[in-house]
Amino acid sequence: MALKITVIGTGYLGATHAAAMAELGFEVLGLDVVPEKIEMLQRGEVPMYEPGLEELLRKHVAGIEGSSGRLRFTMDWAEVADFGDVHFVCVNTPQKHGEYACDMSYVDSAFAQLAPHLTRPALVVGKSTVPVGSADRLARELSAAAPVGADAELAWNPEFLREGFAVQDTLHPDRIVVGVRSANAEKLLREVYAGPVGEGSPFVVTDFPTAELVKTSANSFLATKISFINAMAEVCEAAGGDVVKLAEALGYDDRIGKKFLRAGIGFGGGCLPKDIRAFMARAGELGADQALTFLREIDSINMRRRGQMVEMAREALGGGSFLGKRVAVLGAAFKPDSDDVRDSPALNVAGQIHLQGGQVTVYDPKGMVNARRLFPTLGYAETAVDAVRGADVVLHLTEWREFRELDAASLGEVASARVILDGRNALDPAVWRAAGWTYRAMGRPAA
Ligand code: UDX
Repeated sequence: MALKITVIGTGYLGATHAAAMAELGFEVLGLDVVPEKIEMLQRGEVPMYEPGLEELLRKHVAGIEGSSGRLRFTMDWAEVADFGDVHFVCVNTPQKHGEYACDMSYVDSAFAQLAPHLTRPALVVGKSTVPVGSADRLARELSAAAPVGADAELAWNPEFLREGFAVQDTLHPDRIVVGVRSANAEKLLREVYAGPVGEGSPFVVTDFPTAELVKTSANSFLATKISFINAMAEVCEAAGGDVVKLAEALGYDDRIGKKFLRAGIGFGGGCLPKDIRAFMARAGELGADQALTFLREIDSINMRRRGQMVEMAREALGGGSFLGKRVAVLGAAFKPDSDDVRDSPALNVAGQIHLQGGQVTVYDPKGMVNARRLFPTLGYAETAVDAVRGADVVLHLTEWREFRELDAASLGEVASARVILDGRNALDPAVWRAAGWTYRAMGRPAA
């Protein structure tokens, strides 16, 4: 009999994981504690913009015409416990307010709600990003609270999906990491992931702490790579070098690789910033804080990029105050192909300029609703052209394809001054300069 799978927490990670499990052929039951989320998902709708996810959901959600019917949603914990052989916990672990540490309350509450209903053997699989050591504690709490006792087993299986590529990353992961304590847990997870493993995804079996650490160290490495190239951008600015050429030349060394070496206003989003901070906090608790003090520097290089972008805009406007100046901001999402504005460098820069008296008008292809909710006092335009209309300076802050395809010449006709600052090093300077624009980017020579 095929395994039955449940997914607890149907946010970004959970909704994608649930749809992907149905796509792999399993019967899936998803649970969330927010009724609106469940209602949306039951209609085959996704509460965020993620390419391909809605289509995948609609292909499998029961009750939708032509669907496989393999995916259902509920708010009932007893139903979930009764249904599942394998339960994936996909709730989020945000940064604690006023602290670096991560907030485990959603994870703790998911385990506390599920465990008392586990009357038959089950494997509970944590996917959330947690401080190392959490799995060990949760395993003890799980078997103590479950009526089946030790037959309620835990495994840890970190998730590496990127926003904008969530479906692809979930169906074709570049690796599957499982922290397990028994042959049974490993066997069940091999069954769950037989599809991707058959296609060649490496399956890495570890202990609990290593599995937890793979995720936080992977994100720390990525953050380090971005801050490294941004530090090089600072040096290039001082020395008159070109960080884009530098990154290209570094990238040909395949020990370094060319990915994640795009200099600009730095990383944001719901993962990288909070994960490196939670990792530092946890290392401190373990007495290993010295090992991670470099992450403090990674964080501060990253945060100072935002301020440097603001200063570059000020300079482009002739120095002095932003008062009375019109600033167009292209991009609000923390990265392209996403409507996520959490800790978005683009919105942060827009907000800083607005607070200093600039008249900021923002446009983003998908992030407008979320941006308005977070920064209601900024100006918003319906199109890129409308945002640029009358602007004294244009800031390109999220590298959507739509912005690369803008017609520099006709945009120049509506702007009040042809000055564009590329905070993502993603536009072609030659094209913009040919259309009469002053093009400036971070870490590149002025002309
Ligand atoms: C990240 C990890 O990549 C993923 O594996 C993990 O599961 C969750 O966190 P995500 O937050 O979706 O994924 O975004 P990612 O693509 O990693 O980009 C993070 C930020 O770095 C974005 O703000 C992006 O604009 C920025 N970035 C990325 C750069 O500034 N330069 C680069 O070269 C690459």
